[in-house]
Amino acid sequence: MARRFPGDGYADVLIGLQHGDEGKGRFVDGLADLYDIFVRYNGGANAGHTVVVHGKSLALHQIPSGVHQLNKKLFIASQCVVNLEKLCAEIDEVEKAGLPVLGRLRISSQASVIQPGHIIQDQITMGAVGTTGNGIGAAYAAQALRMNLDRRLDIRLGDLLHDTERSFEMIKQNLEADIQQYGIPGFDVEGTMNRLRQCFERVRGCIDTDPLYLIKEIRGGMRILLEGAQAFGLDKTSGVTPDVTSSNTGVQAAFLSAGIPVEFKRYAYGVAKLIPSRVGHGPFVSEFGGGRSERHCMEDAGKRHTRDVESQLFGNRIHELLQSDDPLEVGIALRMIGGEYGASTGRPRRIGMLDLMQLKFAIALNGIDGIFLTKADQLVHFSKTRPNLIPTVYSYSMNGERIASMPTTKSALQLATPNVRYYPSFPQDISLIRDPGDLPNELRNVLAEVEDSVEARILAVGVGPGRDQVVHLSSL
Ligand code: GDP
Ligand code: IMO
Ligand code: MG
Repeated sequence: MARRFPGDGYADVLIGLQHGDEGKGRFVDGLADLYDIFVRYNGGANAGHTVVVHGKSLALHQIPSGVHQLNKKLFIASQCVVNLEKLCAEIDEVEKAGLPVLGRLRISSQASVIQPGHIIQDQITMGAVGTTGNGIGAAYAAQALRMNLDRRLDIRLGDLLHDTERSFEMIKQNLEADIQQYGIPGFDVEGTMNRLRQCFERVRGCIDTDPLYLIKEIRGGMRILLEGAQAFGLDKTSGVTPDVTSSNTGVQAAFLSAGIPVEFKRYAYGVAKLIPSRVGHGPFVSEFGGGRSERHCMEDAGKRHTRDVESQLFGNRIHELLQSDDPLEVGIALRMIGGEYGASTGRPRRIGMLDLMQLKFAIALNGIDGIFLTKADQLVHFSKTRPNLIPTVYSYSMNGERIASMPTTKSALQLATPNVRYYPSFPQDISLIRDPGDLPNELRNVLAEVEDSVEARILAVGVGPGRDQVVHLSSL
């Protein structure tokens, strides 16, 4: 029985409410001195969480974003899928930045290994979704399938720990089967397996075999922050398939993955960006330029319009594009000004209007107590658009009729059109503002509309990427 007692700690959760890259990392970092243990509870190296401290930017992929707080513990939980080679490279990078990782990182022995064959499968078969190519879907598929005839498909870190030789042999057999199935000549199996072994040996000491570890820490008074990767819009159950990731990304999933009974839940925080984005394919009702923008961003797996290419093509026309009557061009300009290119893959992020219909749905389903909004500073660019107004989507219509509930299938969502409300914009740079009283009235009107529509309190807004570039509005 897991009732809370005086002296027990608790677990809070922070998730992205849209389709990723809302600024989860920067708010985990911002909250970090309030917690003792930071837990990543889903996904793998598909995530890219940026934290900017003293002007230095660090993109975290598998390591929790609380890493800047020295002496605090880090945990990668059971629902995660681990790319050992990328994890080792990330540990090197973070340690080079002066932040020790080994010694305070634990990884659940129940987390699955992303096998080299999973990366092959993903890169060859999942172009239609526009995945990050990290083998995420194939690793979770292996968990679900379990066996292929007499071949074991899913290998957990605990298998590598307790039955090392046989587990590596199984990974090799799986890799050879994939090489054969997809016909890849000259693949360096031995080299790949050797690298995997070396990386495993480096993190062997981090593997935690006690499924009650976090419960014991909570019983000892520890305060835990569970950090979501991907976002609720990409949740494999509640998101719109097939354009989702392969893990459960929401609040409820955090407790299952961390092995923490829900009795210990305290707050659920949501993060949303005021100019949302999406990477990869999939419906995005509020997208500037709609399907044309999706094609522009996703052609050639997103490589045709990378940051460099867009800057060559449009670099000297950004203000003209912002003024355009074509929403596709407005989206391109907002992406370029906002630096909206993936932290993991460098792909262009598709850009949309703030969608309150979508946000309300995500907040309700996750029981979000308070929200953080990022990129308020970027709203200033709407003052340079031709209408000189900030657009927000307040509902959807289908076949000319306003609909009451959120469509949950791709076929339905593709029929939805956004109903847009416009707010006066503001021309001033707000990146130095810290006092809520100094925020422009036009921005306060937008924030009031968000709070009214989504029924959650706004706790803070980001006015720039830096740790201190936050305006605190309320607390829970
Ligand atoms: P995450 O995956 O949710 O952690 O978000 P990412 O790190 O992938 O993307 C968010 C990007 O926006 C990063 O480059 C952040 O540094 C940046 N960012 C976060 N908050 C703000 C903000 O309030 N204003 C601006 N201009 N940038 C922000
Ligand atoms: P963070 O945590 C944005 C998207 C991919 C693709 C879909 C499936 O930084 O917000 P996958 O590789 O997971 O099988 O790809 O999900 N995707 C993300 N988009 N931010 C992320 O992570 C993402 N992780 C996956 O672009 O559409
Ligand atoms: Mg990201």
